[in-house]
Amino acid sequence: MAFPQSATPEDYLAFDAAAVRRRKPIDRVEIDAYLKSIEVHPYYAKMATVKDISMLHVDVLMLLRLFARATRGGILEIGPYIGGSSIGIGSGVRDGGGRPYASVEHGGVEEEIGGTYRDHPFYPSSNIIDDLKKNLAAEGLGSFVSIFPGKSDTPSVVEKVFELFRGSPIELLFIDADGAVDRDMELYRPLIAKNCLLVFDDYTAPGAEEKEQRVRRVVDEEVARGRLESYGVYGWGTWIGRYRG
Ligand SMILES: C[S@@+](CC[C@H](N)C(=O)[O-])C[C@H]1O[C@@H](n2cnc3c(N)ncnc32)[C@H](O)[C@@H]1O
Repeated sequence: MAFPQSATPEDYLAFDAAAVRRRKPIDRVEIDAYLKSIEVHPYYAKMATVKDISMLHVDVLMLLRLFARATRGGILEIGPYIGGSSIGIGSGVRDGGGRPYASVEHGGVEEEIGGTYRDHPFYPSSNIIDDLKKNLAAEGLGSFVSIFPGKSDTPSVVEKVFELFRGSPIELLFIDADGAVDRDMELYRPLIAKNCLLVFDDYTAPGAEEKEQRVRRVVDEEVARGRLESYGVYGWGTWIGRYRG
């Protein structure tokens, strides 16, 4: 179903409903049209409140919700922090989207599971994993996500991720962690389905140049090699594309 250029709230509801049944991956033209009048989307005001606990642009949260709805297979998130992105994805899963959905979070700047980030200028947390669980529960989304505390490359976490997605390849991969998207892609490549939607934050990241350089280098190299197809950069610097295998 093509998306109209000047959309009404009803157009959004119809597109979202159809997304749950679709077989064809969402493409760049649809994404760009979807964002054009996104403020009239009936869920936009709600997502704008989720923005209060998320470092992502509300457009990206809305896209995560849409992508999760349109995903038939597994969903892997690396770096939810206190759950802004997880509410975006989880609401799409609840409404009929992909399964299983796992979220890997190591717990904070202090390198400990359940760590703190009390002095974060906008989104402080005294216990990141607890706040993640609380924020998901407050939205009634706790049962739709398996939270794996730990780093994405910790062997016990890798084992759990492989166990969960056995027989259900990843069709939506969202990474918003430490910038090492190459490490995470290599680790989880055997689980990633052809045409998997990829959402990598920090392609542009003012104030976090190291992260930005690494994400950008990996994405640009993979696109040049033909392994990734780029849809573009959305919100405040989130790259979106597709895995070509
Ligand atoms: C920028 S924040 C994520 C923001 C979140 N997605 C949102 O919507 O606001 C990055 C998070 O990634 C986590 N992280 C960093 N490296 C990680 C790794 N290797 N494995 C798992 N989590 C990681 C950090 O603890 C932090 O909570």
